Amino acid sequence: MAGLDSPRQNSTRAQAADGARVTIANPTLGVEERAAVLAVLDGHEFAKGPRVAAFEREFAEFHGARYGVATSSGATALLVALLAHGIGPGDEVIVPSFSFFATAAAVVLAGASPVFADIDAASFCLSPEAAEAAVTERTKAVMPVHLFGMPADMAAFSELAERRGLVLLEDAAQAHGATFRGRSVGSFGTSAFSFYATKNMTTLEGGIVLTSDAELCRRLRLCRNHGREGDSAHSLIGGNFRMNELAAAIGRVQLARLPAWTAERRLHARYLSARLKFVAPPLDIPGRDPVFHQYTVRLPAGQRDSLMAHLDARGIDTRVYYPRPIHAEPAFRGRLGGQRLELPETLRACREVLSLPVHSGLNEAELDRIVAAVNTFRPEA
Ligand SMILES: Cc1ncc(COP(=O)(O)O)c(C=O)c1O
Repeated sequence: MAGLDSPRQNSTRAQAADGARVTIANPTLGVEERAAVLAVLDGHEFAKGPRVAAFEREFAEFHGARYGVATSSGATALLVALLAHGIGPGDEVIVPSFSFFATAAAVVLAGASPVFADIDAASFCLSPEAAEAAVTERTKAVMPVHLFGMPADMAAFSELAERRGLVLLEDAAQAHGATFRGRSVGSFGTSAFSFYATKNMTTLEGGIVLTSDAELCRRLRLCRNHGREGDSAHSLIGGNFRMNELAAAIGRVQLARLPAWTAERRLHARYLSARLKFVAPPLDIPGRDPVFHQYTVRLPAGQRDSLMAHLDARGIDTRVYYPRPIHAEPAFRGRLGGQRLELPETLRACREVLSLPVHSGLNEAELDRIVAAVNTFRPEA
């Protein structure tokens, strides 16, 4: 039976399931998005219009925050958040090195210094203890990432930020709708989301900053629009980091569909975890309700390339997120100062992780193909 209890069996994709590749992502843009885009094109408001404002309100409300400031991407959402908090040269921001490059690059673009701390092995997210050990008198912010859609330990990070007087900046680019003890990620501190095409919902390109602080919201709006409000003087250094009306129109439709897609991702994750052998599935962590932007397993180091080749030969796409820690990217050469960089769990994750398809477009036949392919893998002795 198709529905919320079992994966779809009878979608049009099911007939092609035997031969077609099982893709790692499946951006879904349907007739409603098309109609919303055409309505924008038929009008005459393309920027700073009513759809951006409505999308900001709806996305913020969905996550239990008071204000949303929509941006051109997740990367610019992070940058605008840092600028609005006045974080810049001489300041340090604690980030994980096991994340997408943009997490740390945003700190550099703001003129501040990223300080890399280790992750906790169970969640793949920044470890609160490691983050605290990295705090210095120059630390201005701590930036947990809700990686793969798994909430970071927001009780610990809220307490740490409060006690040490730090800005809490959530990189929620991968975690639309995820909750920590029943409360949405993105509502604990200032947060940044991405709507890139492969995310759990998309505006093709786009992002948003959430906050419940009215004064910060004012500064965010300035930073995203050349530091200017209306026709007044430019009171802050900012840039053009705005979202356009086409993106917002798509985003409003996608947001309405997000709860159903999230339910399907969770269902697919449960289906895989109940059946996969050999690999270690994502862990259940009490109080955290992830949204499975990725379904990321671990396997013994040294076996990953052969499992990927085995799955590829059976028409199943996989990805390694992330094969290299950010601090080891060539762009960070010469930018690490005197950091000790003892990040054993980060290095282990880079060696062991593999992401399998989990998106909402999968049907039962495709999930069964993934299970069969993984479970027939025979590691080299
Ligand atoms: C953890 C993380 N942070 C930031 C970003 C940046 O988002 P965008 O690609 O929309 O600029 C991404 C997206 O890829 C991400 O995964």
